Amino acid sequence: MSFRTIEWRDNKVVMIDQTKLPAEERYNTYTDYTGVAEAIRGMVVRGAPAIGVAAAMGVALGARDIIADTFDSFYRQLENVCDVIGRTRPTAVNLFWAIERMKRVAQQHKALDLNSIREMLKAEAISIETEDLAICKEIGRHGGPLIKEGGRVLTHCNAGGLATAGYGTALGVIRAAHESGKKIQVFADETRPWLQGARLTAWELMKDSIPVTLISDNMAGWLMRRGEIDCCVVGADRIAANGDTANKIGTYSVAVLAKENKIPFYVAAPISTLDLTLPTGDSIPIEERTSSEVTQIQGVGIAPEGVKVRNPAFDVTPARYISGIITEKGVVRGDFERELRALVGQ
Ligand code: MRU
Repeated sequence: MSFRTIEWRDNKVVMIDQTKLPAEERYNTYTDYTGVAEAIRGMVVRGAPAIGVAAAMGVALGARDIIADTFDSFYRQLENVCDVIGRTRPTAVNLFWAIERMKRVAQQHKALDLNSIREMLKAEAISIETEDLAICKEIGRHGGPLIKEGGRVLTHCNAGGLATAGYGTALGVIRAAHESGKKIQVFADETRPWLQGARLTAWELMKDSIPVTLISDNMAGWLMRRGEIDCCVVGADRIAANGDTANKIGTYSVAVLAKENKIPFYVAAPISTLDLTLPTGDSIPIEERTSSEVTQIQGVGIAPEGVKVRNPAFDVTPARYISGIITEKGVVRGDFERELRALVGQ
């Protein structure tokens, strides 16, 4: 891939600024954890797995700057760093998964001197990034065969290289099918209000010469009805034990339309996106974002001043609409609760 989503470089965190794409390919450098937290909140970096990587790197930066004499004092301050990063975006569970993983590393090495713990945390953050890339390739290996030769695939939001350490989850499945030589076509929903589909998915697929057609969100149902879509593949921000899946707002509508039109609807996600502590999707926290994302497009007003607005950033697709969940360990179908627990050995 010809861009780097997030990287640890010279003890700093470098991220492609996704608020500026596709107009400008700009890389921002962060030297402290508060900057990383703001980057997550402000969507410089977004997409569940990429948020997880950013959170881990933010914790590593925070750990580096902690002044302490004892492990207890160090760990108390590390928990504060984690709290600040944990308050940025509530829906993608990868954020909390990565923070917990970093805390565990600190605890497991509490007998070491503080500088060694700081080094272990840095190494852990870098391995979360490296692992994510490998995981996405595995998701692609399992999911690619689900797309047939000549397949026309609808995707929603951006679950691509930009939303991960690279390659992507839903777009990883699409990339794998494309790389295997199948002549596939992607239909990208523009994904209002933030336009991840138009700005990011179209950009990264075009960059890699994967055929993509952009549609506005309200066109998906009609294309399905006309027989112009063969399957749907989307990413996920949190998957509950019964398979209910939180993903970008509008995913639920796509899933219902897919079922109505007898089109397979797949979710592609790493195991770090599973939240088996939640029995169903009903208790997944849904982020509400600022009203200006709805009343404006790229800073230009499109609605009357003062209009009342709702802006839930995610929705939950009930498991009954999902044909399969594609993970790095294989594709889960049918009894999601049993299959997902078996996948993680619970
Ligand atoms: O608000 P965003 O852009 O962070 O939302 C992203 C999504 O909903 C993605 O589909 C999801 O995180 C999966 S990314 C591989």
